[in-house]
Amino acid sequence: MSDVYQAIANSAVGKKVFSTLNLPIPVMLERHQPGETSFIKGKVVLGGAAGGSAFETVLSTLKGAPQASVYTLSGAAAEADVQAAARTSGESVTSYAPERDDGEKFKGLIFDATGIRNTAELRAIWDFFNPVIRKMDKCGRILVIGRTPETCDLAQRIAQRGLVGLVKSLGKESKKGTIANLVYVDQGAESQLASPLQFFLSPKAAYVSGQKVHVGAATFDSAGFNWQQPLAGKTALVTGAARGIGAAIAQVLARDGAKVIVLDIPPMADDLKQVAEQINGIALEADITAAEAPKLISDAAKAQGGLDIIVHNAGVTRDKTLAGMPDKFWDMVIDINIASEERINQQLLDDKTLNEGGRIVCVSSISGIAGNMGQTNYATSKAAVIGMVQGMAPQLAERHITINAVAPGFIETQMTAAIPFAIREAGRRMNSMNQGGQPVDVAETISFFSSPASQGVSGNIVRVCGQSLIGA
Ligand SMILES: NC(=O)c1ccc[n+]([C@@H]2O[C@H](COP(=O)([O-])OP(=O)(O)OC[C@H]3O[C@@H](n4cnc5c(N)ncnc54)[C@H](O)[C@@H]3O)[C@@H](O)[C@H]2O)c1
Repeated sequence: MSDVYQAIANSAVGKKVFSTLNLPIPVMLERHQPGETSFIKGKVVLGGAAGGSAFETVLSTLKGAPQASVYTLSGAAAEADVQAAARTSGESVTSYAPERDDGEKFKGLIFDATGIRNTAELRAIWDFFNPVIRKMDKCGRILVIGRTPETCDLAQRIAQRGLVGLVKSLGKESKKGTIANLVYVDQGAESQLASPLQFFLSPKAAYVSGQKVHVGAATFDSAGFNWQQPLAGKTALVTGAARGIGAAIAQVLARDGAKVIVLDIPPMADDLKQVAEQINGIALEADITAAEAPKLISDAAKAQGGLDIIVHNAGVTRDKTLAGMPDKFWDMVIDINIASEERINQQLLDDKTLNEGGRIVCVSSISGIAGNMGQTNYATSKAAVIGMVQGMAPQLAERHITINAVAPGFIETQMTAAIPFAIREAGRRMNSMNQGGQPVDVAETISFFSSPASQGVSGNIVRVCGQSLIGA
């Protein structure tokens, strides 16, 4: 769906008129382009608290971005740590003394906060961001790396938890399409940071802001990994893939190298076939709520050598306040949006169709986080998806299978096109980006979770909502 307001606001005349009237001008967000080889382009400043443990991985990861150049603040507490990490990683880092009007523009600000041990040391945040935050380029990337609070002693836990408030506020203060996110890393899991770093610093995270992801210990070794085709050799199945977000997920997973089985209900057969043809995939017609569906899916996937990735995307709304809701609306939404996912997961695990090291990615919703008038059934189902992710993550760890969910906010699809105009406009604008997201934004986050490089990332819920005010 097109956003007419955004198109007019960004035209030559529109820009002048909208600025004069002090109306928000939603930035045209930078998104991943085919053939792009540098996940971030431009100047990046790396800093942090003294004693941070992530500097080396950040610099080795940035070596994979040929069009990025790295700076660190001269005279800052972490300068010596950053330069020492630069020597070990072989990345060159320029020491930089910011001056108010030096005209510099930075695409990325990366702050390693793992060295912060107590609230007094939170001061390192001000020292780093204050001199450079005004120099952020359009569609900039702010990334804070912290220590998982639950693994810290009390003083450190308190300080590290503070980082959530920091990134959420930075996301809200930042203009022009800049995003701010947080990665909590367990001690000793720093080598697993490459995948979230690449994702959150890239245009693939265009509509993801104010989010946190946890990275735990894992054995993924990035030496020789093909970051351009991270899903090469993998087989994925996407439910509800005939249109909307599901079709975009199938396209992005295929772009990233996966063979994709696309599934949808028989009445969507024509659209489904079209998606399958576009991506050289396999179409599977099935209603996921049918009694035979889990077995059918398992058998179809077995015929392809098993599944590495299952994306539970199919979902429906049947909105009515609970008082006026027919029981069939309740039953249908619960069955499609969560119960069928439980049954399919069980079958895939029982049959061992989901390969060792597999990925389960679910699609929740900000309605499942915040609740929504007229959506008791939908919000219950989408909150239950979160419960499934959190409950299954530790159980699946033994087989190196991860499970995560995205929680989309307002995404431009046929589902949101059906919302009455005034409510639709409010949903679209009530976020830090002043615009709705695109299906591809959800798909990029799903591909990040699906990557073999994301082995240390499990049990997370990431909102793809442009930092919507709803439920924030
Ligand atoms: N669009 C948004 O703003 C938004 C926001 C939050 C969450 N979501 C979630 O994202 C997912 C995709 O949403 P969308 O906007 O692309 O919706 P959509 O209606 O465009 O697509 C959903 C697809 O699921 C399929 N489907 C429905 N029931 C099925 C069943 N029983 N078996 C197999 N397939 C079935 C449909 O045929 C359809 O192709 C859903 O889970 C939805 O709840 C969407």
